[in-house]
Amino acid sequence: MRIDILTVVPDLLEGPFSHSIMQRAKDKGLAEVHIHNIRDYSTDKHKNVDDYQYGGGAGMVMSIQPIAACIEKLQSERKYDEIIYMTPDGELFEQSTANQLSRLKNIILLCGHYKGVDERVRELFVTKEISIGSYVLSGGELAAAVVADSLIRLLPGVLNDETSALTDSFQDNLLSPPIYTRPADYKGHKVPEILLSGNLKKIEEYRENEAIRRTNERRPDLLKD
Ligand code: ADE
Repeated sequence: MRIDILTVVPDLLEGPFSHSIMQRAKDKGLAEVHIHNIRDYSTDKHKNVDDYQYGGGAGMVMSIQPIAACIEKLQSERKYDEIIYMTPDGELFEQSTANQLSRLKNIILLCGHYKGVDERVRELFVTKEISIGSYVLSGGELAAAVVADSLIRLLPGVLNDETSALTDSFQDNLLSPPIYTRPADYKGHKVPEILLSGNLKKIEEYRENEAIRRTNERRPDLLKD
């Protein structure tokens, strides 16, 4: 899978993709992440990427010219399955969206900044709009990193234990059951006996019940449909 991220603050995206699982996915050739500085595509003599709002109002708007130039260059090199605009008024990002998107070959994530992008960018180029939650970030970069991370870890071969993405919270509309490692007794706080029993059937049953109990307690909305 190839992910192209378009941003006016590329430095914000350096960290998330240079460590741990993300770096391993890149090293194994399973994921490519390319970060593009929208400013490099500005034809303005001061390399401006934003401008005042028509009709007045506070806040700058990202101009269409450099975004269009960057997207058109990428599109001349390969076909994109989705061009996704990260915005608080987009469709709420869920595990099901991550599952769907992780099957695609090439996607663009466009990060908004300032007040957002000129509406014509959305009309002419964007095929999907994603929000990572009902709150406003100062830009789409952190949201793009969240989305890219959640897709890349789903790619076959990225996680060591093939089953571990399948047993994540949300994959079956259930939260994960509690997990433990050594010691079995920490200052009198003991690991549930059943997990030490070696009885795989009983352990599976315990985990399933705990997952349901936890979901009921914390996220009953997940059990509704
Ligand atoms: N940009 C600013 N806030 C955002 C959010 N909640 N989701 C996606 N992109 C954003």
